[in-house]
Amino acid sequence: MNKAKYTDDVPGDRRELLKIIGQLDRPAKIMVIGGTDSGKTTLVTFLANRLVSTGLRVALVDSDVGQKSLLPPATVSLALAELPFESPSELRALKHYFVGSITPDAHFGEVIAGVKRLAEIGERLAHFVIIDTTGYVENAGEDLKRLKAELLRPELAVLLQKENELEELGRSLERFSRVIFLEVSEKALEHSRSERRNIRKEKWRRYFENAQEYTADLTEYILSGTRMFHGEEIKGEERELLEKLHGWLIFAGWRNRGYTVVKAGDGCRGVDRRLIHCIDIENLSNLLVGFIDRDGLCIGLGILKLINFREKKAEILTPLRQEELGKAVEIRFGRIRVREDGEELGLLRRNAL
Ligand SMILES: Nc1ncnc2c1ncn2[C@@H]1O[C@H](COP(=O)(O)OP(=O)(O)OP(=O)(O)O)[C@@H](O)[C@H]1O
Ligand SMILES: [Mg+2]
Repeated sequence: MNKAKYTDDVPGDRRELLKIIGQLDRPAKIMVIGGTDSGKTTLVTFLANRLVSTGLRVALVDSDVGQKSLLPPATVSLALAELPFESPSELRALKHYFVGSITPDAHFGEVIAGVKRLAEIGERLAHFVIIDTTGYVENAGEDLKRLKAELLRPELAVLLQKENELEELGRSLERFSRVIFLEVSEKALEHSRSERRNIRKEKWRRYFENAQEYTADLTEYILSGTRMFHGEEIKGEERELLEKLHGWLIFAGWRNRGYTVVKAGDGCRGVDRRLIHCIDIENLSNLLVGFIDRDGLCIGLGILKLINFREKKAEILTPLRQEELGKAVEIRFGRIRVREDGEELGLLRRNAL
C-alpha cells in the first residue's frame, strides 16, 4: 500500500546532502520538492532515519494531500520520527491541518497555512523539520511551491530533478532558501493514476475502519467552508415563491446578502449567483468534513451522512471518540465526497457549498 520505504540504495549525492544538513543551524526546515514519483518520500524517509540514528529529533510535515504517507488524506499532518522507521506511514501524526481536498488546486491557502503552522510546531519539538510536498511542480504547482517557500523560509530546499526541469523553480526559490538539486534515483518507479487512486482508497478505508455515527448539534459549532446556516432562515411564502420560480424542492434556505438555498431539482444555471447561492442536496451526501479545535487545527475527519435541517443536526461518520470530539469547536466542510470503504465519489468546486 505504501510506495516509499527506507532504502540505503540511494544516489551518492544524498550523502553530500546529509553533510550539508549536519552543518545547518538548528532547528532547521528542509523542504523536499520534485515531480510525481521522483522519490520525495523515499528521500524524506532516508534523511529522517539517518538523522534519528545519530540521536537527533526529526519532525515530518506531510503536505502531499493526494498521496499522503501519514493518515488521513486531504489534510497536512505533522509527526515526530523518534525511532527508525521503514515507512512514514508507520508514524502516528500528532497534529493535522484541514485542507478538505486531495488536490491543492483550489486550496493553496489551506495547504500553505497548514505547512506553516505545523512546521512551527515541529520546530519547537525537533532539531529538523522535513517537509514532504505534492508532485505538482508545473504551472500553478510552481506558484504553490514558491508561495510555500516564501512564507516558510526553509533553511534548505531540496529539488529532485531528472534533467533540468526544475532549474527555473530553483532560481525563484533562491531568494527564500538555500537550494540544492539532487538527481532522481534510477530506481524510482512511476505509478499510474489508478494505482495512486487505489493507494488512496486503502488509506481512506483504513482511516474510517472503526468509524461510528455521531450526531452533531450544529448550533454548538462554528460552521465553515459553507454558506449554509448563515443568515436568517427563510420560511413560508418566501420559500414557496423561490421553489415555484425555479422549479426546485428547497430543503432549507437562508437570507444573507442574497439567498443561500439547499435544493433538489433543476440546475442552478440561469440563476443570478449574486442573488442566490444554490447548493445541490446531492453535494452534501458523503461529504468530507473536518473537526477543528480552538487553535484552528484539525482533530480528525468525518463523512457527512445526513443533515436534519429542521433540528439543525447532522449525522457524521467519524473514527473520533467522544473525548476527542469534545475538543472540536468548528465543523469545516471539505470539497470531496468519499465513502467509508474508500471510494471517492467526486470533487466539488470551491464555491459549490
Ligand atoms: N532510491 C530508491 N531505491 C529504490 N526505489 C526507489 C528509490 N527512490 C524511489 N524509489 C521508488 O520509486 C517510487 C516513487 O518514489 P516515492 O514514492 O518516494 O516518490 P514521490 O516523489 O514521493 O511520489 P509522490 O509524488 O507520489 O509523492 C516508489 O515506488 C519508491 O519505492
Ligand atoms: Mg510521496
